[in-house]
Amino acid sequence: MRTIAIANQKGGVGKTPVAVNLSVGLAMAGRLVRLVDMYPQASATDKILGYDTELKASAYNLLTQNSVTLADVVIPASQEGLHILPSDIELSGAEVELISGIGGQTRLATKLYKSRIPYDYIIIDTPPNLGMLTINALAAVDEVVVPVSPTSKALKGIHLLERTIEDVRNNLNRPQLHISGVVCTRYGRTNVSKDILEIVQTRFGDKMFTTVLRDSIKMEEAESRSQSIFDYSARSNVAQDFADFVKEVISRE
Ligand SMILES: Nc1ncnc2c1ncn2[C@@H]1O[C@H](COP(=O)(O)OP(=O)(O)O)[C@@H](O)[C@H]1O
Ligand SMILES: [Mg+2]
Repeated sequence: MRTIAIANQKGGVGKTPVAVNLSVGLAMAGRLVRLVDMYPQASATDKILGYDTELKASAYNLLTQNSVTLADVVIPASQEGLHILPSDIELSGAEVELISGIGGQTRLATKLYKSRIPYDYIIIDTPPNLGMLTINALAAVDEVVVPVSPTSKALKGIHLLERTIEDVRNNLNRPQLHISGVVCTRYGRTNVSKDILEIVQTRFGDKMFTTVLRDSIKMEEAESRSQSIFDYSARSNVAQDFADFVKEVISRE
């Protein structure tokens, strides 16, 4: 089983679209996938389940209540082979509860694997900060995939993410944890995009995915309908990019 957190403390770089479409794409390729939403705004949950789904329980309950188990929280998505551990706005309160609670950094790690379902992938979407929810995600996985969008400040603060990963690896005893890939999202036909992509490629070398995800209004349109890019516009350039990206992830199995 591969366990991957999609992380970058910058907002708007495409973490949620990458987490959602990677999960759907892997499931379409026959993998059994659980998408875990650790973002209180629940963007991934909304995209997978639709905007007005009533949840019985969410990641908040799993993280803060001992009696709540995975089976109480995880629900199947309409895509075959995809399950989701949903988030809701209550999860924002978990930050504070986790800081003061015993084992607050590893709550997710302790519960995430107590499933009898033989998942091939667990993909975690994370919030745009390096708080307790992101730390819980990092402490629960082996791999981190970092989406980077090519704007002038693309790499600003990326060392903070790297240092946090380092801290989790050393202090929470997760020797496997590492950045396994960096993917360029929202790539535009501009000189800035081209220049920054080169800088990012130089910085991350062979960790860089060859596939570049082009910027496209189709992404937002798909999101507004709670559809994956494959369902919404399978023939668009950006759907092709995501399909290539999914293949690249699979090729690293
Ligand atoms: N190729 C692409 N990859 C990822 N996001 C894209 C792409 N093209 C356009 N977008 C848009 O970029 C925005 C990314 O923002 P968001 O989902 O908030 O990112 P994050 O989860 O990192 O905060 C979304 O509105 C999405 O529709
Ligand atoms: Mg997001």
